Amino acid sequence: MAAIDILGLAKTYSVGFWRKKPKCALQPLHLSVEAGEIFGFLGPNGAGKTTTLKLLMGLVFPSAGSARILGMEINDPQMKARIGFLPEQPYFYDYLTATELLEYYAQLSGVAAKERSRKVSEVLARVGLPDVGGMQLRKFSKGMLQRVGIAQAILHDPQVLFFDEPMSGLDPIGRREVRDLMEQLKQQGKTVFFSTHILSDAESLCDRVAIIHLGELRGVGAVADLTSSVQGQVEVVWQGNLVPASLKAFATECHGTGDTTRAVVPEANQDAVIDALRRERLRIVSVIPVRTSLEEYFVLKLKPSEAAAGVRS
Ligand SMILES: Nc1ncnc2c1ncn2[C@@H]1O[C@H](COP(=O)(O)OP(=O)(O)O)[C@@H](O)[C@H]1O
Ligand SMILES: [Mg+2]
Repeated sequence: MAAIDILGLAKTYSVGFWRKKPKCALQPLHLSVEAGEIFGFLGPNGAGKTTTLKLLMGLVFPSAGSARILGMEINDPQMKARIGFLPEQPYFYDYLTATELLEYYAQLSGVAAKERSRKVSEVLARVGLPDVGGMQLRKFSKGMLQRVGIAQAILHDPQVLFFDEPMSGLDPIGRREVRDLMEQLKQQGKTVFFSTHILSDAESLCDRVAIIHLGELRGVGAVADLTSSVQGQVEVVWQGNLVPASLKAFATECHGTGDTTRAVVPEANQDAVIDALRRERLRIVSVIPVRTSLEEYFVLKLKPSEAAAGVRS
């Protein structure tokens, strides 16, 4: 069973004060996230990521479609008890200490009274805030508040986690820690669905990603599949600086560095190139498909719509 099943969920807001105009924030979205996956929901600002998460959390009402989480309807309280959510801009009553706030959330999410304080200190340590439980939140930095938000989301040991821009406001070390935390959650068998506009945060972490732009899904898949599907090229590296004459016709790019030479060739020519190198008795060091970065794939996926967006508005 999929952990999250999104079935044509869509949202049109009504904007303007005097004359209301419809604004489509999310076109009917179909997406399925398997149990145990880390799933990255990627898109530039205004793409519709927060809208999707709010719909899944039941915070805004869909214009169309539905979704199921752990096989249950969005407004099922039983399901709510088994998910955790980090909002994009968590707002906390800042005269409380971190411990007070988390004990309050623990109470709300049904953690037994005698377990609360142990759970809270455990979770604070887990998000890298072991010593500041007694400090008022108003003295916390943005990064520390973000960690408190994550602590709040994982406190009751939920099965599925939804994080809206979990790395925002964090420095590189903080981002690394959040990444590690998500990996730990995966190892515990949890499902993590998170949004980001920072692609490098998703590239190494996600089992699969979806790319959304202007409220429309543009691509879904494993990062490696998405990035290799763009190129169809192979990088061949061999020892020495000799370039067989017959190879030049196949290679789109060829240059030497130190005592190796590197050629980029279309996938279709791979065997011919290897044969050419063998004939010259050159030692092949590696043959690797060229992957574009996720960023390149992303930019490519956004491009066609820039024109379409102009037409639409
Ligand atoms: N409450 C709202 N009323 C009107 N428009 C909204 C509202 N919330 C979001 N939008 C619009 O919907 C689009 C998607 O927004 P959002 O889901 O916040 O994007 P993202 O999280 O990807 O940056 C944006 O154009 C935004 O201006
Ligand atoms: Mg957002």
